[in-house]
Amino acid sequence: GKDGYRHYMEKELHEHPVVIGQTLQRIIDPVTRQITLPDLPFALEEIPRAVITACGSAFYAGLVGRYWLEAEARLPVDIDVASEMRYRNPPLSEGGLGLLISQSGETADTLAALRGLRAAKQHILSVLNVETSTMARESDVTLGMVAGPEISVASTKAFTAQLSVLAALTIAIGQARGAIGPARQQHLIACLLDLPSRAAEVFGQDEAIRAMAQVIAEARDVLYLGRGICFPVALEGALKLKEISYIHAEAYAAGEMKHGPISLIDRTVPIVAIAPSTILFDKTLSNLQEAKARGGRILVFTDAKGAARLRDLAEIVVVVPDVDAFVTPILYTIPVQILAYEVALLKGTDVDQPRNLAKSVTVE
Ligand code: F6R
Repeated sequence: GKDGYRHYMEKELHEHPVVIGQTLQRIIDPVTRQITLPDLPFALEEIPRAVITACGSAFYAGLVGRYWLEAEARLPVDIDVASEMRYRNPPLSEGGLGLLISQSGETADTLAALRGLRAAKQHILSVLNVETSTMARESDVTLGMVAGPEISVASTKAFTAQLSVLAALTIAIGQARGAIGPARQQHLIACLLDLPSRAAEVFGQDEAIRAMAQVIAEARDVLYLGRGICFPVALEGALKLKEISYIHAEAYAAGEMKHGPISLIDRTVPIVAIAPSTILFDKTLSNLQEAKARGGRILVFTDAKGAARLRDLAEIVVVVPDVDAFVTPILYTIPVQILAYEVALLKGTDVDQPRNLAKSVTVE
């Protein structure tokens, strides 16, 4: 049941802290604080590169994974949505890593991309919630998220669980490749293990999130901006808003705004920025100044340090706990998804069963 929550989505949003904790517990040894992957039929240090593919929210998790694997593990990564990847037929040398991400493990395009990568002799590693799924059976190794059943059609806790697994995988690959030393590894693991408590604190910000929701519920179009590992969080926020509130939203890498979408901005198009003070904050700040100069209403998710610098610029700020840049995509996803939920409540839509959508897309 819904345990007293109004919708499964609300219940599942509140499960973020527990799900992140359980997922990390499965993959980080509590005593040695080392990443413990299941037995792999290949050596992590020998992987020359990775191809990541998935659909929808899972694809956005993959985008974060790309930033992490490139920047931290120094692993070359290619990524595309599965509906494109399955037909791209990229030239791949044997022995690379095919990394699939799927909550259901049944998504038709992702499954077809998996089979294509296997035919191209890639090692298949899947990040899945349903460990009895078709993708689980067809993978060399499965890394399970411990998200529990996700009933709401819009994905919530599966996304942060996917990110938690990808973060741990990044550390394991970085270590194997010699790109992450013991001190960096212990620091990153400590940041991850601290996340469930930080995630629980986010729920103290519901008033500011509801104030943002009031602004967005009036809009026809919304622009989400982010940079680096938080750009995919902007994509996730825009997708979730579209799915459940039926308000048109687009996400842009903040630096791309002036190459087109800035022409849309006026008072009727709110700008939602995912802007922790740790990631290219000054650059994002100047993008927001440009938007404000054109009449845009500025709504920002940031930390206390960022909030102090946005006092004159932002109309509403949601203050997110201060964390290391590495884990910001996991933490910032939570208030961004809650925002979509609050807007849907104001719009009175069928939150758990949005029109035209199915939980698992098993046709092409
Ligand atoms: C978004 C959403 C979809 C799924 C996508 C992939 O809220 O639910 O975009 O993320 O259909 O589904 P899985 O992860 O089951 O492959």
